[in-house]
Amino acid sequence: MDRLTEERIINEVKENNEIVSVIAEYVNLKQQGKNFIGLCPFHNEKTPSFTVSREKQLFHCFGCGAGGDVLTFIMRKENLTFGPALRLLAERANINLPEFQLPPDQQKVKEERERLYRINAYAAAFYRKILWETKTGAKAVAYLEARGISRPTAEKFSLGYAPPQWKALVGLFRKKGVSLQEAEKAGLVCGGGEGFYDRFRDRLLFPITNPRGQIIGFGGRILGEGQPKYLNSPETVLFQKGRYLYGLKEAREGIRRQGRVIVVEGYMDVIQAHQQGVEEVVASLGTSLTVDQVRLLKRHSEQVIIAYDADAAGAAATIRGLDLLAQAGVGVRVVRLPAGEDPDSLLKREGAAAFRRYVGESVDLFTFKLAYILENEDLTTPAGKARAAQRIFPILDQVQNGIVRETYLRQTAAALGVSEATIYDQWRIYLYNSRKNKQRLDIKNNQRHTNDIADEHHGDATRAENNLFQLERQLLRGCLQEKEFFARIKRTLKEIKFSAPLHTRLFQQFVEWDVSGEWPPPATAFPPETRVLYTELLTENEMNPLPVDLEGCLRRLRQYQLTAEIHRLQQEVAAGLEEEAKATTPSPELQGKLALLNQLHKKLREEFPTFSGLT
Ligand code: CTP
Ligand code: MN
Repeated sequence: MDRLTEERIINEVKENNEIVSVIAEYVNLKQQGKNFIGLCPFHNEKTPSFTVSREKQLFHCFGCGAGGDVLTFIMRKENLTFGPALRLLAERANINLPEFQLPPDQQKVKEERERLYRINAYAAAFYRKILWETKTGAKAVAYLEARGISRPTAEKFSLGYAPPQWKALVGLFRKKGVSLQEAEKAGLVCGGGEGFYDRFRDRLLFPITNPRGQIIGFGGRILGEGQPKYLNSPETVLFQKGRYLYGLKEAREGIRRQGRVIVVEGYMDVIQAHQQGVEEVVASLGTSLTVDQVRLLKRHSEQVIIAYDADAAGAAATIRGLDLLAQAGVGVRVVRLPAGEDPDSLLKREGAAAFRRYVGESVDLFTFKLAYILENEDLTTPAGKARAAQRIFPILDQVQNGIVRETYLRQTAAALGVSEATIYDQWRIYLYNSRKNKQRLDIKNNQRHTNDIADEHHGDATRAENNLFQLERQLLRGCLQEKEFFARIKRTLKEIKFSAPLHTRLFQQFVEWDVSGEWPPPATAFPPETRVLYTELLTENEMNPLPVDLEGCLRRLRQYQLTAEIHRLQQEVAAGLEEEAKATTPSPELQGKLALLNQLHKKLREEFPTFSGLT
């Protein structure tokens, strides 16, 4: 489809979806002057800062910065990409969209996935029917009852029962002409050439959905004791373990309301929690969180609370998952459940209020790790205390905020029953010994993310990245306010570069568009990847028309860049010095680096005489 047709269609869809009426379906809006205001659906707030302008057909949240037009709103709220969001709104307004044609190979993949979703949905309906409407299912109904799951709860999660026969589903699919080859691809039947048979037999089935609610796979629990307790779908085109969170679709509203998400281990934990009205709960379907799951969690909430069984929570693999979360800048807290309990059993025995109390008493990640180590070392012996300290120091080393670290050091001293002075001594010795290795590591890390602000600590690094991110956003926003701003930034950016790849891309697209004259460019000038950012920036300008402080932003960006460069060089030099410790004079390469470092320091002093952020 050419650009003009696309633009015409987008306009038609927007004209027929008045923004206030669309958003009112999601947010309770009140009129205030010309605008409408309500509680922002994209972050947790108590006083409304979410504003919708009927006149401008835009929304903007003064709290979190989210903003855009009716399409952006649907994309974010429904978690859709541009095409599907457009389709949703077109349907709402009864507009016929011409098909967006994918390239043939992608179209084939898409069609196959759609067929597999349909097969899964068909199978789920069959299993549901067996559970509730047949004699065979009575056994599973009794099992649910014994586990304290009510019928409405079971129905909310579309639970089903796979009968004991080997060919129940196979028989149904044969009769209805559903391809068994495809059912095998969906992971529902096995056997292939040997003759197909059902994968799930005599098991309670938990359909696993993606955030849009389409079934991607199943978990199957044996009724009672036996091995394996759970049998899950194999890896398929739709289902990859570690990419999804069980119950996310059902939990979304609760997560938004509570402003946090509780992660549990199992299917039953999620279901029991929902039944008792704790609705911000999802399961990770395994013990350690993966990068994909971390991303998914972060998209829904900045505050994650882990509620695993006591033994699973302390496992090294679990901890790695929690570290991933913390590294992603998500607030992590860990619930300490009594030994032998999981959320399901605790909720059943003591109820939601007690469970919420445990959640309220959750601890931060360091305190959790500390407690875990202390519980696993014999603190009655001096050797045990020393070992505990040696396990605690590397964790402390990751906490780079000085104040926080000092608090933790004191906490450690108290826990080990030694004086603070002793702990500080030991801590310094530890640092000294670990420095060599650390420097090498730092260099490697720096090579990996050359754009990071080097040598900032964890918490601070994320903060610095956030600032940097905001700065860059303001500059991009400035580009759209005045053509002259854009020209100024373009000139300066020959020396200063954006750190976020998306920012670089959008700016590049500005430059490309600029040739054609019109300014600011129309949204259709941008591919989907940058279009959302672009509309957000436009909205921010509409709602907040003060010109950005261009020179200030550029200066701060410059300062970030200089200090990052200095930190990077410093580390290279430190490592170089160590490697060449035996040589009497430094190598020419190292001398070069030293000279450059001096120059950069001088530059920094000249350009930013009052700046003292460098250590
Ligand atoms: N799990 C799995 N496959 C297994 C064992 C466990 O996929 N063979 C996953 C399931 O999602 C399960 C979770 O890990 O819900 C936690 O396992 P476990 O604690 O053993 O089970 P519970 O959730 O306590 O199961 P139940 O309460 O039904 O006994
Ligand atoms: Mn359990």
